[in-house]
Amino acid sequence: MSHSMDRRQFLKASTAIAVGSTLSSPLRAFDANAKLRTAHVGVGGMGGADLKSISSHAGVEVAALCDVDAGILKSAAATFPNARTFRDYREMIATMGDTIDAVVVSTPDHTHAPAAMTAMNHGKPVYCQKPLTHEVFESRQLRLVAAEKGLATQMGIQASAGLAYRQATQMIQSGVIGKVSRVLAWSFKNWGYDGPAFTSFDPVPDNLEWNLWIGTADMRKYKKGVYHQGAWRKQIDFGTGTLGDMGVHIFDTPYRALALTSPTWCQTTCRPPTGVGHPEQNIVEYEFPGTKYTTDTMRWTWYDGAYAPPSAEGLGLPDGLKLPNQGSLFVGEEGTMLLPHASTPQLFPEEKFKDAGYPDLEPRDHYHQWVDACIGEGQTSSPFAYAGPLTEALLLGVVANRFPGKKLMWDADSLRVTNLPEANALLKRTPRDGFQVAGL
Ligand SMILES: NC(=O)c1ccc[n+]([C@@H]2O[C@H](COP(=O)([O-])OP(=O)(O)OC[C@H]3O[C@@H](n4cnc5c(N)ncnc54)[C@H](O)[C@@H]3O)[C@@H](O)[C@H]2O)c1
Repeated sequence: MSHSMDRRQFLKASTAIAVGSTLSSPLRAFDANAKLRTAHVGVGGMGGADLKSISSHAGVEVAALCDVDAGILKSAAATFPNARTFRDYREMIATMGDTIDAVVVSTPDHTHAPAAMTAMNHGKPVYCQKPLTHEVFESRQLRLVAAEKGLATQMGIQASAGLAYRQATQMIQSGVIGKVSRVLAWSFKNWGYDGPAFTSFDPVPDNLEWNLWIGTADMRKYKKGVYHQGAWRKQIDFGTGTLGDMGVHIFDTPYRALALTSPTWCQTTCRPPTGVGHPEQNIVEYEFPGTKYTTDTMRWTWYDGAYAPPSAEGLGLPDGLKLPNQGSLFVGEEGTMLLPHASTPQLFPEEKFKDAGYPDLEPRDHYHQWVDACIGEGQTSSPFAYAGPLTEALLLGVVANRFPGKKLMWDADSLRVTNLPEANALLKRTPRDGFQVAGL
């Protein structure tokens, strides 16, 4: 029996085991040389970093690379000359079939769900960049399908594996500041565009497959510097604004530490919608049902762009303390925790907590955790079971930005805004012809 058959039999068997169970590793036990053969969708920008981190695991063999930009694909292929290269992830997944074991998705946000769902429909475990999806409905579907198939998954919030965020989580759950009634979270970044629709366009660069880049979204003419690379974050059809982009990192620790579920409502302050870009500055307010770590209800407020950082007056911080440009603040019944983004938590009043100390934690590798989970060793810390509901909550705020000043009452079970029917039209994209994926 070949190495690859051993591995594939294991992966197939592991999909039958319920999510949350700890798997032993028959793969390793049977064949120490078998490697997890990975296929990567989007290998420029963060995709390049993901490729490097995942392939640094001794148990990984990079089997396939896909990018719509020929230049980017060529430079990634130079590092992995044995990997097959593709421009279209659908072709890659169909062609490679059982010769790949797992798929990494590092494309712009709007292609996360189509690529991840295509991979999961073929029974492949998935690592997907953050935020999990562009649409609320897609987050729900990725979570359900990953659970149904028992696939190892991880969303790319690497800071959640860092010591600072894990320490903050433990400290909050130990009750150090008592029950939490409010969280403020913010980022100075501006992934918005308040300008008008574009009226001048540029030729599509020779190296770019524009039709594939657009994917499920409505076709439009190419414009330099607006979409590929990176700037797509500002556009409503492709990115999720600063809330989706940074909020998913910064809200992760409060969401996890306080064991939050789905918001009951959401309301934003921002400029009226333009139909083009995300607003350049937003305040997004949510209420969550209480949990064992919070008061009866929990209020969460997000500030971005020029609204960040918020005023911290009256929140238990020393006079004159300058808030970092990205971070969060937990307001508890017995104290306040300031958590600068991916940095050491601080407790206030300082005098009261001078002996509090920090939990002693082992380092964790966010990427290797996923590879290990794929081959049956341990679990990931941000599987789709966690990332789905977190992203749903954030994306509800992105939808609310299209209805400034209106309170969106949310029924998570039925995935509906109950008081504003027009908002429900923004929860799910109708994919462009030719780009439909089963389950989305
Ligand atoms: N976790 C983090 O800290 C972090 C940091 C940066 C970006 N990200 C996330 O990574 C993702 C990519 O962001 P980025 O800044 O690298 O964007 P980018 O535009 O710089 O890079 C995207 C890459 O994907 C390729 N691509 C686009 N559409 C594709 C398709 N349909 N098929 C195959 N390849 C395709 C592009 O050519 C490019 O190489 C986003 O979801 C972003 O939120 C995460």
